[in-house]
Amino acid sequence: MTSYSDDVKAITKLISHNQIHRDVYVSEEIFRLENERLFARSWLYVGHESQVPEVGDYITLDLAGSPVIMIRHTDGSVRVLINRCAHKGAGVLSEPCGNTGRVLRCPYHAWCYKTDGSLLAVSLKADYVNSGLDKSVASAGLSVPGGVEAYRGFVFARLSRKGLSFREYFGEALFALDNMVDRSPEGKLQIAGSCIRSTIRCNWKMYLENVNDTVHPISTHESAAATAQTVGHEFRDADPTALEQLLPFGAGHDFYSKMGARVLPHGHSILGTNFSIHTGYSDIPGYKQLLEKAHGEKRAGEILSYSPQNVVFYPSLATKSSPQVMRVLRPLSAGLTQLEVWAFQPVGAPEIMLKRGLTYSRLVFSPTSMVAHDDIHLFESQQASLVAAGNPWVNLQRQFNAAELEHGDYLFENGNNELLMRNQYRAWLASLTTPVGEAA
Ligand code: FES
Ligand SMILES: [Fe+2]
Repeated sequence: MTSYSDDVKAITKLISHNQIHRDVYVSEEIFRLENERLFARSWLYVGHESQVPEVGDYITLDLAGSPVIMIRHTDGSVRVLINRCAHKGAGVLSEPCGNTGRVLRCPYHAWCYKTDGSLLAVSLKADYVNSGLDKSVASAGLSVPGGVEAYRGFVFARLSRKGLSFREYFGEALFALDNMVDRSPEGKLQIAGSCIRSTIRCNWKMYLENVNDTVHPISTHESAAATAQTVGHEFRDADPTALEQLLPFGAGHDFYSKMGARVLPHGHSILGTNFSIHTGYSDIPGYKQLLEKAHGEKRAGEILSYSPQNVVFYPSLATKSSPQVMRVLRPLSAGLTQLEVWAFQPVGAPEIMLKRGLTYSRLVFSPTSMVAHDDIHLFESQQASLVAAGNPWVNLQRQFNAAELEHGDYLFENGNNELLMRNQYRAWLASLTTPVGEAA
């Protein structure tokens, strides 16, 4: 068995320009290195500000192996804290969500923190007078080493001190978050309750590749599209939203080839720069006028005409501007991935927009949907079969051209190009081969 921890050359051999070695998906050692070298230095999506509207409101979650808290601070800002007491490491908050008031109190020995994570008080304070506690690492409280960024309501954190700034890291991909928010006449999104959460027995990268896989729907989702075509019309009046969302899954290779795409540095991408399966959704009466009033005619037109299939914020997030949903990947191990699907209501917009997001989540992304179970079956089959004797490679050669190696960021017309996936692995390799302690 190859050991990868101290062997950059061995890691480099896992990625050829257009083939990926199976250890990238199945090795637990690689997974551990991903947490240290890729996830820790990336800006990871934590949550949305509307999940914690009041001071002291919080959620807890696992972020690439680190327990964290997203909380509304007393000054109104949203903070992300490490959920590890500075005293002896106990989890400070243990519920998935709640309100802790203005103070976080560790249940073990009652050290207390402000809602920005700074250390407020320790028990038996006099016992620390000459101890140098104020100069120890414990005095830093619960802060996240790499920092926190709330971008238009979307909250991200970086676990490592080393890494690119938020804007350098995401660059033009942030345009997709602007577009989601600007679909609200008030420039604000409200998250819809909780998410659809499921655990899939596959490596996280299989899921993220598939977000950019335009060639699979015609075969993988053949039955869902055929059902929509053959019996859907009977239910058109009962649920027109469902029908208009499912019918495009029957689009042929030609449709996807003309869709257009763009790859960005650091693994991010935009699929559907020309149009997407969401472009043909019916107009919502009065909505365009509301947006024109809020943003002006020109900007309203720009907002509504931008409707990519998926924008990938590598490595943990994929968004859809319309129908206002996003998927978050929370990898658990090499062979286990947790998926969260979130829907939003653009504040001040017609409520049918939320219905579209919830319907899409239920019909396409839920494990009990008409669509996702097809994908999940195949991701789990990949994970089980990749270890088979013989060929150890996953092939990503579709439309490969050696000239692409010169470019980090460019637009291309053919949406079937597997460059969208190869671009993810170039970012992956750059991170995995950069030692911890340096910026990837
Ligand atoms: S571990 Fe938190 S106060 Fe001791
Ligand atoms: Fe699919």
